[in-house]
Amino acid sequence: MNVSVSGPDAEQAEAPLLKVLAGERVDLPPVWLMRQAGRYLPEYRELRSKARNFLDFCYTPEMAIEATMQPIRRFGLDAAILFSDILVIADALGAEVSFVEGTGPVLTPIRDAAGLKALSKARVAEHCAPVYEAIRGLRSTLPDAVALIGFAGGPWTVATYMVEGGSSRDFAEIKRWMWSDPDGFGRLIDLLAEATADHLIGQVKAGAQCLQLFESWAGVLPEPEFERWVIGPTRRIVTRVREACPGVPMIGFARAAGAMMDRYADATGVQGVGLDAMVPAEQAQRLQKRVAVQGNLDPILLLTGGQAMAGRAREIVTTLREGPHVFNLGHGVLPPTPPEHVEQLLVAVRGG
Ligand code: CP3
Repeated sequence: MNVSVSGPDAEQAEAPLLKVLAGERVDLPPVWLMRQAGRYLPEYRELRSKARNFLDFCYTPEMAIEATMQPIRRFGLDAAILFSDILVIADALGAEVSFVEGTGPVLTPIRDAAGLKALSKARVAEHCAPVYEAIRGLRSTLPDAVALIGFAGGPWTVATYMVEGGSSRDFAEIKRWMWSDPDGFGRLIDLLAEATADHLIGQVKAGAQCLQLFESWAGVLPEPEFERWVIGPTRRIVTRVREACPGVPMIGFARAAGAMMDRYADATGVQGVGLDAMVPAEQAQRLQKRVAVQGNLDPILLLTGGQAMAGRAREIVTTLREGPHVFNLGHGVLPPTPPEHVEQLLVAVRGG
């Protein structure tokens, strides 16, 4: 089935985020924040305390809907991002995933071709059914002007958690496998790319109007490996999603990719790129000639608040006002961030 959001659909055309990603000029940049739902909000902590564990939370549509809506109700942001996690796909493939309080994600590591036997794409659609149900519920709840963003992790980033067994400092295990057995490692990346494309298509069919790929660990690869393990799989995902869902814009967030962002914007087929806080203004403007750009306030400035934050936010808006720009952070909202700083930020970006 083909799902198209282009064309004369007035509802879709209204959301400023979708206009910008279609390359249209708007007076004020639409604003949403990576990790806009989460522990910095007291209402999230309250809701979270009712779930047995984090994955259960993600797979309970009423809870995922409520967590998604909390920052929309509180701040009036321009886009909602589905409440879920990039590691849901690892869980769906059969990797053992848990989230440990104070530690983060813990996975049974997969470090060689033999470990791949435990994984299967067959269960993904059924496993992710509650995620799609949450999306259907959200689309019927959200006002037309608030775009609903679906997402997944980039294969490389999800693979780092699967191979390292959780978060990592030096990515030694995944790099060792990648260099010692590129064919075996390539089978993991291929499986992830396939499952991720299926998952994103499932989200669009359920009502997601835009997609973001979080490639949070793109910045740890030398150029040839960035080309093979980030650009290649991303292009395959974008191609498959576009075939199944023409017109659905995709944003690629290749964090800390530095000079390789230009190649990423040109070669992957995404309509927008997320910029981390270190991307210089000149590079951001250059990228903006090819794709929409999203970013790039340092999350520590949101934590800091006040004039330092407001001044830099206005500077970013001014620097990027000649082209398509979605205002966002350079990475996710940090748990100790005071929620009032988000209100101050919106005043700074939108004008008082
Ligand atoms: O509001 C939103 O942005 C939507 C929900 C969302 C979550 N995770 C919820 C979450 C999104 C888009 C993500 C993406 C994600 N998850 C990324 C990419 C973005 C990034 O930060 O680089 C990554 C790398 C993950 C993996 C992950 N999930 C880690 C490393 C952790 C533990 C550390 C942490 O930030 O808590 C998680 C857990 C997680 N995902 C929480 C939330 C709200 C906290 C869990 C809890 O409430 O106990």
